Amino acid sequence: MFYQLSPVGNPIHLSRADQPEVLLQAFGQGYQPHYYASGTTALAAAIVAAIRLKPVDKPEVLLPAYGCPDLISAAVFAGAKPVLVDLEADRPWMDIEQLAEKTNTNTVAIIAVNLFGISERLAELRPFAERVGALLIEDSAQAFPSGKEKDIWQGDVVVLSFGRGKPVSLLGGGAVLCDMEHSRHNELAGLLPEGVTQDAGNIQKQILFRIKAGLYNGMINPRLYWLPQALPFLHLGETRYYPLPSLEGMDRVKLSMLSSNVKAYQSDLMSAQNKLAVILDGQDLEGRGIVDLPKACKITADRRLLRYPLLIEPEIRDQLHAKLLKLGLGPSRMYLKALPEISGLETLLSGQGLFPVAASFADRMLTLPTHSHVSQADIEKMCQVISN
Ligand SMILES: Cc1ncc(COP(=O)(O)O)c(C=O)c1O
Repeated sequence: MFYQLSPVGNPIHLSRADQPEVLLQAFGQGYQPHYYASGTTALAAAIVAAIRLKPVDKPEVLLPAYGCPDLISAAVFAGAKPVLVDLEADRPWMDIEQLAEKTNTNTVAIIAVNLFGISERLAELRPFAERVGALLIEDSAQAFPSGKEKDIWQGDVVVLSFGRGKPVSLLGGGAVLCDMEHSRHNELAGLLPEGVTQDAGNIQKQILFRIKAGLYNGMINPRLYWLPQALPFLHLGETRYYPLPSLEGMDRVKLSMLSSNVKAYQSDLMSAQNKLAVILDGQDLEGRGIVDLPKACKITADRRLLRYPLLIEPEIRDQLHAKLLKLGLGPSRMYLKALPEISGLETLLSGQGLFPVAASFADRMLTLPTHSHVSQADIEKMCQVISN
């Protein structure tokens, strides 16, 4: 009971050594960052820019029917109708045929989500966006470059999150990266709404952040994670819909620590993830009806995942989840419902039809942790449970 891995969670580094070259390198030459208070805010800002770029009476944005409800909060805040697209069978990607059917003159943006670190097929989505003059937004809140691979992003704009449990976490913050090579770039960057900048941060604010970050680092330690899990008011792992109240800029205390946290993230050797991928590859998962999503999506060993996702028949998924949880191995069944079923979204998303693949993802998803607290012994135990 006292050893519990968290499903996600890299520690926060509290060094303020500002190294702009680290960010330039991580974002890639072509992209210029604009910072916001969260990933949701950054996505809302990108959708606002998409509407300004293509003003229509009834703007619509296309997005996958399985995933984080914050995408809906961002679309609603920006004043666009979220139009759901089901997934392809056994792939975390939007169904291209359905995407084609749902793209129309009102479409201002297509949101491609890099789920759990697995990239969407941006090159395949681009012609649909270009055909109707819509923006291709790459939501990379869950995928950040490991530093070992080149050019992971291909969107017209890329959205990042530095929130809790994200690849690079600062307990809040987000960014829109604008592609400088995009033909409409200058116009686009100018169309992004300003986030109301939070003040430069007095000493109290800095101390408060350090205390919060220290507590977070303590809580995601496997020896202490049982503690926040035992506190129901923290709603850990629950998926909820929260409307976005306002469009704010990123806290400068957090911004001052971004480059050192990116550097720490990129210096991780990814040994847990690589070991997990190798052992799972040696098991006959396919024969047992288990889909190893990173393998099925041909994810290379230099791609860092936020979590390791598997699709498993619901009853077995739930049994494995219970066993792994009992052993403190940090499994998660997120997201437990497709977007139209999430509490608070039933009315907002009603009448859009059925999304059987998204629903089946919700029933079959099991993720294993790959963060820096996961040891080789943990991986061996996880694989033993899965193989039995
Ligand atoms: C794919 C995706 N986009 C956007 C967000 C929103 O990010 P934030 O929590 O920083 O608002 C999340 C949050 O989990 C996410 O998973």
